[in-house]
Amino acid sequence: MKHVLAAALLCLPVVGAAPAVAGQVFEQVKIDAGQALYNAECRRCHASDSADASYGPPLENVVGRAAGTYPDYDYSIALEASGIVWTPAALRAWMEDNAAFMPGTKMRHVGIEDRTVQDFILAYLESISARDASAITEK
Ligand code: HEC
Repeated sequence: MKHVLAAALLCLPVVGAAPAVAGQVFEQVKIDAGQALYNAECRRCHASDSADASYGPPLENVVGRAAGTYPDYDYSIALEASGIVWTPAALRAWMEDNAAFMPGTKMRHVGIEDRTVQDFILAYLESISARDASAITEK
């Protein structure tokens, strides 16, 4: 018992630093999971790197971007005229049911209702966007 206590005391400074490290590890795990989900659900139509050819608009820097504004992409009228900004909340609604969120969009229906899956994909999209998502107002 004494040994356990001594070991626990010795570990204290490390334990004190653990939450920050664990937070970073968790964030990276979310991004990695999000990338795998993105590759499975979105990648065939959306390049993450704008240098690659893509059927849908590239999603690099999509977080915080005004909808329908990727240069030279031929958007539907619905998306171009929507006037929305891709906040995390708008991206969730889009993933959940893009066709209902924006009638007239030419993106085939996706229905990602699981909030955790949305969280992971969002973490990945944020990781490939320059803007700080926490600075974007949720509407
Ligand atoms: C079958 C092809 C396809 C799949 C799969 C797909 N998309 Fe799309 N996406 C499109 C097309 C096409 C558009 C352009 C829609 C329009 O102009 O109405 C689009 C548009 C978008 C936009 C708007 C971007 C902008 O510049 O305004 C976002 C955000 C988006 N998709 C996210 C996703 C995410 C996240 C996934 C995966 C969960 C996904 N898409 C899966 C084809 C696809």
